Amino acid sequence: MRSFTTSSGFVIRWYDCVGSTNDEARTWSELGAPDGSVVCADQQTAGRGRRGAAWISPVGEALAFSQILRPTMARALWPRLALVAGLAVAKTLEAHGIAAEVKWPNDVWVKEKKIAGILVESTGDAVIVGVGLNVNPVDFPQDIAAIATSMRIETGREYNREELLIALSRSIMLHSQRIEADFTDILRDLRERCALTGKRVSLTLGHETHMARVMGISDHGELLIERHGHVEAIWQADQIRVVH
Ligand code: BTN
Repeated sequence: MRSFTTSSGFVIRWYDCVGSTNDEARTWSELGAPDGSVVCADQQTAGRGRRGAAWISPVGEALAFSQILRPTMARALWPRLALVAGLAVAKTLEAHGIAAEVKWPNDVWVKEKKIAGILVESTGDAVIVGVGLNVNPVDFPQDIAAIATSMRIETGREYNREELLIALSRSIMLHSQRIEADFTDILRDLRERCALTGKRVSLTLGHETHMARVMGISDHGELLIERHGHVEAIWQADQIRVVH
């Protein structure tokens, strides 16, 4: 493991291999890691996604990291961290010339293919924002090749993962600090990059799947969907698929 401090003052611990960076970050946070600290790994043996799915990324080619945030805002606002993390990743990709969208709540898409996934968990007074970003891989396993992309696939360039990590951790922190005072601006940025607005989707909630049209994002950050002529605001869905 090597450890260094970024110009933003975040301590980064970069491991060759861990189980899950979210678990390492949780342990470190419980031992008092400062706000903004990051655990990154070249390889995860038990990387996980939302809804218990495994998260597998090619060794040394992707970014798998978890940032520890110690928010001072009301806990009721913590769910917004998941939204702003997706936005922060999308905007960092834009800064590298890649037009990215947020697939609510926090997948990041490029041309309807997933380039990053985010898993937000909390422990005590800390929130762990786990990000898996496809940076340099060009080959994906057959079962996801049609639905996944990477920065390198999009631009043909190879990226320095350490520079990206420093930019991403700064962006996640800056966006998270704007949640209380600037949520209107965050919403504007999210709405401009919402991959689902106007789309017909199939939406799985528990054991039920519904067809709906996405109307946009509410003033609180919920997804607005129209079903049977009624507009509903939802905070979570097990799966959302765009129907073409
Ligand atoms: C998803 O799309 O379902 C979320 C994927 C989140 C993956 C990242 S990789 C770094 C961090 N550690 C984990 O075990 N998961 C997250």
